[in-house]
Amino acid sequence: MMWSSLVVVAALATAATACRPTVTTVSGTHAPDRVCGGELIFSDEFNSFDLARWQHELTLAGGGNWEFQYYDNNRTNSFTQNGVLFLRPSLTADQFGANFLRSGHLNIEGGQPADRCTNPQWYGCERRGSPSHVINPVKSARIRTVQSFNFRYGRVEVRARMPAGDWLWPAIWFMPTHNSYGSWPASGEIDLVESRGNRQMFSNGLHIGTQEAGSTLHFGPFPGQNAWSRAHWLRRNGNGWDRNFHNYQLEWTPDFLRFSIDNTELGRITPTNAGLWQFGGFHTSPFQNPWRFGTKMAPFDQQFFLIMNVAVGGTNGYFPDNVQNPHPKPWRNNSPTAAADFLNAQGNWLPTWNLNVNEGRDAALQVDYVRIWAL
Ligand SMILES: *[C@@H]1O[C@H](CO)[C@@H](O)[C@H](O)[C@H]1NC(C)=O
Repeated sequence: MMWSSLVVVAALATAATACRPTVTTVSGTHAPDRVCGGELIFSDEFNSFDLARWQHELTLAGGGNWEFQYYDNNRTNSFTQNGVLFLRPSLTADQFGANFLRSGHLNIEGGQPADRCTNPQWYGCERRGSPSHVINPVKSARIRTVQSFNFRYGRVEVRARMPAGDWLWPAIWFMPTHNSYGSWPASGEIDLVESRGNRQMFSNGLHIGTQEAGSTLHFGPFPGQNAWSRAHWLRRNGNGWDRNFHNYQLEWTPDFLRFSIDNTELGRITPTNAGLWQFGGFHTSPFQNPWRFGTKMAPFDQQFFLIMNVAVGGTNGYFPDNVQNPHPKPWRNNSPTAAADFLNAQGNWLPTWNLNVNEGRDAALQVDYVRIWAL
């Protein structure tokens, strides 16, 4: 009797400390030394703003889509308060004056390690303003974990509230750490959630503003061959995704990758052994398969890091030209002066951001927590 209860106690103690092996791998300054199955491997409840975990991007680059924002590290644009992270746009003119946008010279490169411009592509570190080519009229924030935390396979939950305001484009997403299969989109991109801040924007009769949220995978051998439309899912919410916090979830395994919102599945991919080359329809193309030495999940079988940002506008078509909005879309996606066209309509879009109400929280992407578990 005595002996058998000792065995039970010993077994329980072993179970409590055992580390279940897992396929999840991690790297980065804030990654755990040892990864155990099912355990939390990265989290932030945003009780403080830990800039060792969250590196700010400093750039005018426009995300490859000629978006209109200037990403800076400034507590006007990114801060935590009462356990919530806020990523919030403001006007560049507030800092530099209105004339500066059309005539100034902005070089954001700095000498200290934390001042370095993080993306020189697309004139990302230096711009000169003119009436037709204005300096990025909106300041905002984009933060990432590339130095602190990268992982392959796991479960992710981000509790967040989307911003409202015309032409705002929030995103919570993942990019590949090492580009193991080549540059974008060959090494993939995982978009957990994106939305548009317009409260009353319709396209072909559908509300595509705050009432729509989407998840997407980008993958293909080069930018002109990206099969994202085969891995793109939308969910409508008549109340608007800006009205409340929701849980945006990713389950990523060696066999499938699945997006959910509030525990309801949005979409998933479950590639066959022919992999994403076939799933993307590339197997009939003349191109060489960059994933041929990877697993069936390639390029989604390598480590990724997390990015969160609020972008504005852009000319890649995320804001289609044909939308109906109370104030019409002020730029066309083929306009060479898109940012100036946007700036000239400031009297229409700025009031929708409510920046003077409650410190502009309506226009902020708000994040209650980020939690990532090993499989
Ligand atoms: C931060 O942003 C505010 C508002 O735009 C601006 O007034 C201030 O100069 C900025 N601070 C720095 C250090 O750039």
